Amino acid sequence: MTLTEEELITRAIAARETAYAPYSNYKVGCALTTGDGSVFEGANVENASYGLCVCAERSAIVAAVLAGHRNIASLVVVTQSSPPAAPCGICRQTINEFVDDPASLQIILVNVDGERRDISFHELFPFGFRGEHLT
Ligand code: THU
Repeated sequence: MTLTEEELITRAIAARETAYAPYSNYKVGCALTTGDGSVFEGANVENASYGLCVCAERSAIVAAVLAGHRNIASLVVVTQSSPPAAPCGICRQTINEFVDDPASLQIILVNVDGERRDISFHELFPFGFRGEHLT
């Protein structure tokens, strides 16, 4: 079963509620689909040692990879920011690792008030470094 965009957004909003963000009070949720339509969610998980904080996007990607999926087809990020915030640099590089064609990935940014902004991953992260560069 393939989720609609609205259903994927609903999943990301629900995932955001599971965030562990006692230090920043900035909860982030993520839901992504993989090439076969599987859905994985993530939320940020903070730590008293601040540098150990894990972003929502990376927790969703790790869940997908652990389940054997390495190709992100669509990705939603939910924050409380207006306008809706985009993934941080480390998350952009991590998304870049697990997308077959970075030029074709659309990312949906939303916030808890229902604002939405669609942006291409290529616009967010042009000239990304990839495994091909190592060969
Ligand atoms: N955060 C994310 O989950 N994703 C991002 O792309 C940016 C920041 C989290 C990390 C931290 O828990 C909180 O937001 C504040 O930076």
